Amino acid sequence: MSTLAIRGRFFDFIDDPWKHVGREAEAARFLPDGLLVIEDGLIADFGPFAEVAPRHAGVAITVIEDRLILPGFIDGHIHFPQTRVLGAYGEQLLPWLQKWVFPEELKYRDRDYAREGAGRFFDDLLAAGTTTCQAFTSSSPVSTEELFEEAGRRNMRVIAGLTGIDRNAPAEFLDTPENFYRDSKALIARYHRQGRNLYAITPRFAFGASHELLAACQRLKQEHPDCWVNTHISENPTECRGVLEQHADCDDYLGVYEKYGLVGPKFSGGHGVWLSDGEFRRMSASGAAVVFCPCSNLFLGSGLFRIGRATDPAHRVKMSFGTDMGGGNRFSMLNVLDDAYKVGMCNNTLLDGSVDPARKDLAEAERNKMSPWRSFWSITLGGAEGLCIDEMVGNFQPGKEADFVALDWNGGPLAQRWHQSLLAPESGPETMEQAADVLFAIMMVGDDRAVAQTWVMGERLYSRD
Ligand code: GUN
Ligand code: ZN
Repeated sequence: MSTLAIRGRFFDFIDDPWKHVGREAEAARFLPDGLLVIEDGLIADFGPFAEVAPRHAGVAITVIEDRLILPGFIDGHIHFPQTRVLGAYGEQLLPWLQKWVFPEELKYRDRDYAREGAGRFFDDLLAAGTTTCQAFTSSSPVSTEELFEEAGRRNMRVIAGLTGIDRNAPAEFLDTPENFYRDSKALIARYHRQGRNLYAITPRFAFGASHELLAACQRLKQEHPDCWVNTHISENPTECRGVLEQHADCDDYLGVYEKYGLVGPKFSGGHGVWLSDGEFRRMSASGAAVVFCPCSNLFLGSGLFRIGRATDPAHRVKMSFGTDMGGGNRFSMLNVLDDAYKVGMCNNTLLDGSVDPARKDLAEAERNKMSPWRSFWSITLGGAEGLCIDEMVGNFQPGKEADFVALDWNGGPLAQRWHQSLLAPESGPETMEQAADVLFAIMMVGDDRAVAQTWVMGERLYSRD
């Protein structure tokens, strides 16, 4: 058995801050001097150094100084074969897919190209502090294999699957429902729960799926109920209209996935910008999750996701957060939090009643505010709960996998360095409030330059310095 221990300043969550309005700190845990004991990649013990150290006499201790150590970030929605599409100019969703995305993803039929892309993809994730992702691949099994193989080499937890599309793309990019079903079965047999890999049945989106393709997904889910289901939902108004034209027997976007028995726990739909209250209610009742992708929603002009509405206790929807890279223009979940905060603030301009008195809703406005607690919960424990992987990752509870990130509160732009001194002593945060203030500054001013180290299953896989 290999045992090691990390000593440092730790910050994680033991509860959901949205349930602690006005006292969100109660959901968090800040240990200014903590010890994390790791055995064979799993967390064996965790707590204040003075309490935990005597229980592990003789264990080798690595001290991580001047850093805030958090659970590794979880990106709930990202496109592995879009690594080279980052920053493509000028289009909204549907023309952007046609012009930039499908031609690039087509290249991932080539194994060498896909393998090189997979290496870069995981390098970029780790440099951003992301240790777990739920990823789309392309419509080629080769790209799905290369993603799982590379994740396996790095021992990283991923959820992914062959990404099915059989309409509304160039002919050479389209799959058939029969091939999609056959290839998905083979990939499930080969990769699902092999190492840390988890398989998601992945219809790309209802706009790109025929009745037969969705029926194939339904059959796969019935035959493999342990698998996840990952897709897009209600991202862009033109797409939403197209879906209802193609699936005229359904009343709304969610209804298409419901019709094929896909909606429930382990289902997640990216974006959800245009979901109605009724759809939120049904997703909530079924245990399905929406993945909020603010960088992408702003970059592609898809719209402002209603955070406060999705978190309404009357129909609280499980939420994970994602980059949606290349629709999102960043790999960093810190940038996702930056944009999420701004989306919430813009939503509140619409809700403050000054433009339309009928829309004044102070409770929803309060829920729109992405406090540091809500924010960092959403990319750690909350993100894990959204994806139903919180038994494995998300915080420092013993038994979970030892994935974590060490943040440098002075890393990144000089403005951040200057700013920190207002929030905490130069030697670093000493209280929960100071830690939260520093984390908020990191998410608003920082980026992947604030990520000093990233550890996976107790092994350091990335070091900035
Ligand atoms: N909907 C279907 N495919 C995609 C994609 O690649 N990116 C985004 N943002 N939305 C999609
Ligand atoms: Zn996406």
